[in-house]
Amino acid sequence: MTQKDDEQKNLTDHEYDGIREYDYQLPTWWLNLFYASIVFAAGYFIWYQWMDGRSIQEEYQAEKAKLDIILANEASKSATVSEADLLALVKEPAQIKAGKEVFQNRCAVCHGAQGQGLIGPNLTDEYWLHGGKLAQIAQTVTNGIPEKGMPPWGPLLTPQQIHSVVAYIRSIRGSNPPNAKAAQGELYKE
Ligand code: HEC
Repeated sequence: MTQKDDEQKNLTDHEYDGIREYDYQLPTWWLNLFYASIVFAAGYFIWYQWMDGRSIQEEYQAEKAKLDIILANEASKSATVSEADLLALVKEPAQIKAGKEVFQNRCAVCHGAQGQGLIGPNLTDEYWLHGGKLAQIAQTVTNGIPEKGMPPWGPLLTPQQIHSVVAYIRSIRGSNPPNAKAAQGELYKE
C-alpha cells in the first residue's frame, strides 16, 4: 500500500468548502495522558472535597498561625531588652534620629509632634500611667493598651525601631513643649 492509498483510506467524507478531513487515530501517549488527567481530576475532587484537602480559608488560617508565632517572637524580643541597653541607645545620635522619624510617622498623630500629648498622654513629663522605666515604655509600645486606644506596635515595627523610638522618647523627657497635656499617672524618677 503506498502512502497515497493510506491517506485515501483515512479520508472522511466531511467536506467544507472543498476542504476535506482525515480521521487518524490519536497517538496512544496522548490518549493515555488525557485519560490519566480525567482519573486524576476525579481523585483530586474526592480528596479536596471529602478528605484531607484544605480549603483556602484553612490554608490561610494555618499560614496566619505560623505568622502569629513569628510576630509574637519578634514582639517578645523587643519586650525583653534590658534597661541598660536602652539607656545606652539614648546617647547615640543615630538612634535618636531614627527614633524621631518613627515617632513623627507613627506616634505624633496621637501624642503630638513634640510628644506634648494630644489623644495620648504627654510623653515629655515625669508622670507615667504604665511605668516610666525605659523597659516598661518598650513593653507599652510593643503590646499597646488596646482597650484605651494605644495600638500595639510589636507587629508593625521591628525591635530596632521600637528601641530607637523609646530612646527618642527618653531624649525629649523634660523638654517642656508648649501646650503640654496635663500630667497623668505616677511620678517616675530615674
Ligand atoms: C491612635 C492613637 C495613638 C497612637 C498612634 C500612639 N499612641 Fe501611644 N497612647 C495612646 C493612648 C490613648 C495612650 C494612653 C493609654 C492609657 O490611657 O492607658 C497611649 C499611651 C502611650 C504610652 C504610655 C504613656 C504612659 O503614661 O505610661 C507610651 C509610652 C506611648 N503611648 C508611646 C507611643 C508610641 C512610641 C507610639 C508610636 C510608635 C504611639 N504611642 C502611638 C494613643 C496612641
